[in-house]
Amino acid sequence: MCGITGYIGYREACPILTEGLRRLEYRGYDSAGIALIADNGGLNIYKEKGRVSDLENSMAGKDTSGHIGIAHTRWATHGEPSAVNAHPHVSSSGRFAIVHNGIIENYAVIRKNLEQKGYVFRSSTDTEVLVQLADYVASLQDSDTVTVLQKVLSEVVGAYAIALLDREHPDRLYAARKSSPLAVGIGDGEFFVASDISPIAGYTDKVVYLDDEEIAEMHCGDSLHVVNLANVECRHEIITVPENLGKAGKDGFDHFMLKEIFEQPSCLTDCMRGRVDVAGKTVTLSAVREHKDRLLAAERFIIVACGTSWHAGLIGKQMIESFCRIPAEVAYASEFRYSNPVVGSSDVVIAISQSGETADTLAAIELARSKGAFIYGICNAVGSSIPRATDTGSYIHVGPEIGVASTKAFTGQVTVLAMLALDIAKEKNTIDDRTYAEMIEELATIPEKMRVVLRTNDRIASLAKMFTYAKNFIYLGRGYSYPVALEGALKLKEISYIHAEGYPAAEMKHGPIALIDEEMPVVIIATHNALYEKILSNVQEIKARKGRVIAIVSEGDSTVSAIADTVIEIPETVECLDPLLVSVPLQLLAYHIAVCKGKDVDRPRNLAKSVTVE
Ligand code: M6R
Repeated sequence: MCGITGYIGYREACPILTEGLRRLEYRGYDSAGIALIADNGGLNIYKEKGRVSDLENSMAGKDTSGHIGIAHTRWATHGEPSAVNAHPHVSSSGRFAIVHNGIIENYAVIRKNLEQKGYVFRSSTDTEVLVQLADYVASLQDSDTVTVLQKVLSEVVGAYAIALLDREHPDRLYAARKSSPLAVGIGDGEFFVASDISPIAGYTDKVVYLDDEEIAEMHCGDSLHVVNLANVECRHEIITVPENLGKAGKDGFDHFMLKEIFEQPSCLTDCMRGRVDVAGKTVTLSAVREHKDRLLAAERFIIVACGTSWHAGLIGKQMIESFCRIPAEVAYASEFRYSNPVVGSSDVVIAISQSGETADTLAAIELARSKGAFIYGICNAVGSSIPRATDTGSYIHVGPEIGVASTKAFTGQVTVLAMLALDIAKEKNTIDDRTYAEMIEELATIPEKMRVVLRTNDRIASLAKMFTYAKNFIYLGRGYSYPVALEGALKLKEISYIHAEGYPAAEMKHGPIALIDEEMPVVIIATHNALYEKILSNVQEIKARKGRVIAIVSEGDSTVSAIADTVIEIPETVECLDPLLVSVPLQLLAYHIAVCKGKDVDRPRNLAKSVTVE
């Protein structure tokens, strides 16, 4: 989703800002722009619809001088993707330029008021009201820029992360946030602003994360000055972030998504490092140790998440209920936040998010907290908003995920959920020693078994060529495999734009079976587990209607293989860990079909990596 970067210091700003925009590309966007206060004091704005490379081409040969600037990648919410609607937006007087992430909910009222005062708006965005209102407030009395911002931001309802240039103070960069993340990088005589750490990485490892309703003023030679809307000075601890945080390359793979699929064995090893001890036969999460009383007293777990993270939650629910014998529910964060849920102090809410910035998940956390629940976060992005908003939690430690379609984060989330369920179950004495030991041994074998699954890559690539014709796909699974079917269908939809539905296999006969004919590919998860015989019947039902069955089966399976059109074999594991292995061929199938169809796998249309608006 939208990305912000800003710079003030001794270096040329433009190269730093364009590099920052490139690093933000993974979030998904449709237009980009830069504002620079030039060496001659002029304000230069460059904006283009399309890619950052289009913006760079449009700037060739123009004045890109200056040591201060702001830049933005936009993902359209209000107004179509276009150069006019792209940020930065400039106030009518030409004094202020702004970039903004988030949504100003009362923009229509503010815009109408300003139009009545003679302000002419150029764009259809909600953002433009911020900069025009700043102009208006500044015109009323001679206030400094921070005071202007305090007045403007006190009037707006909604979410914002902004960076602002003021031509009357060309030696100062301003930034502020509410419900949308913003980090300030502190270098030696220079400052960086960014909506996530990636544009800052490599320039400085000293970072301050602004809190809601705070305004930062950056002036070279001074220390960072932060006040809130009530003008109270805010002191912040400067955090040192790991040097490689936010930097990632494709390492020879054609796409980040493929690289991330292949990274999964080593990512899961990292995820389990220091937590799963095979020799000592223990699983330990530090958050469980630290908050044991609170977690063991939980009468119910409520998992809130969106998209792929929600699918991981469905698997986590089954693990928690089966090992810990505590009721668990899974809610879409976007529904939970508006549902007046029955939540109380005996509940533990688990918020799952790769990015740690998903607006709906953050809002669900706030609602649950207001009702007294204890909040446990499972996130990937270190230092992001959700880990900071939760009472405790566990990082999945799978490294930056750049491909918009989530892959390694999903398997990392499922792995953490397995460890969480096992650790709590052991503490509660709801798991027998044999099962606990078997789970630990199996967890430790998953990375190696995943490597075996990855060897199917070439076969799946050939198989994919046969399915580029398809307009629809059905994915079926039961029990632990049902959420994997949902996830497989989501992967295909996201990157190939083929319509795909995931169903619990037994639900087919209640309606969707009407869709089956010789054109319909059906991916069915039929590994050896408690429901194997049942799923076998479901395969028969599909074949009886001439559906084209692609079955994921356990190594050595001959029964399903005899009926299905194609089978992909994977190693056996315990049922609840099956999703970790089954999801890999489904990721590869989606990837190769999308590649065959010539789609932009890492940056699919309309999608954003961090969904920071609701
Ligand atoms: O960062 P989060 O895990 O909170 O993101 C949630 C969803 O937006 C995300 O999983 C989305 O569905 C992915 N594009 C799936 O590939």
